Amino acid sequence: MHEDLERILLTEDRLRARVKEVAERVDEAYADKTPLVVGILKGGIIFYADFVRHLTMPVELDFMAVSSYGSGTVSSGKLKIRKDLDRDVKGRDVIVVEDIIDSGFTLANLKALLLERGAASVCIVTLLDKRERREYDIQSDYNCFVIGDEFVVGYGLDYNEQYRHLPYIGVLKREVYGG
Ligand code: IMP
Ligand code: MG
Repeated sequence: MHEDLERILLTEDRLRARVKEVAERVDEAYADKTPLVVGILKGGIIFYADFVRHLTMPVELDFMAVSSYGSGTVSSGKLKIRKDLDRDVKGRDVIVVEDIIDSGFTLANLKALLLERGAASVCIVTLLDKRERREYDIQSDYNCFVIGDEFVVGYGLDYNEQYRHLPYIGVLKREVYGG
């Protein structure tokens, strides 16, 4: 285990098994469709890579990078898009794959934006759900793990751009982020 972690929350084995289970459910639900699967950079990327490899229908892969200032404090303004999609979402069934839903600011705004652009449907798939911290009226359609109010890193999730490459998810020691 990385020395900056307090404990491991989700091992590689648990992640692998649960991601497969959830991806297979999405695969069934979209069997007769050709969805555009949108990965949210950077946090969602490792989950995304594991998730899409379980899909069996024809899919197109695309990416967006967004930043949400204000989560945890007062969220104001619109979502900032740092990298937009290459593909047009008009008339498409979009599956958004994200690392974590916390206040819900990012995904509530992103979903509204994609629908505004004419997506036929928007489905939200998250690896983690910090449900007790929700401030916006948005839920994942598919979620792998509900977690408590702890700061976690690994498997794509970072603190200060560190720890994304860890193959498991762990709780960061408070002394590392001064919480
Ligand atoms: P929301 O907009 O408040 O739902 O926040 C979602 C974003 O907050 C995620 O995409 C993450 O980048 C970040 N985030 C929230 N909780 C954590 C955590 O425990 N570890 C790492 N990033 C987190
Ligand atoms: Mg993120």
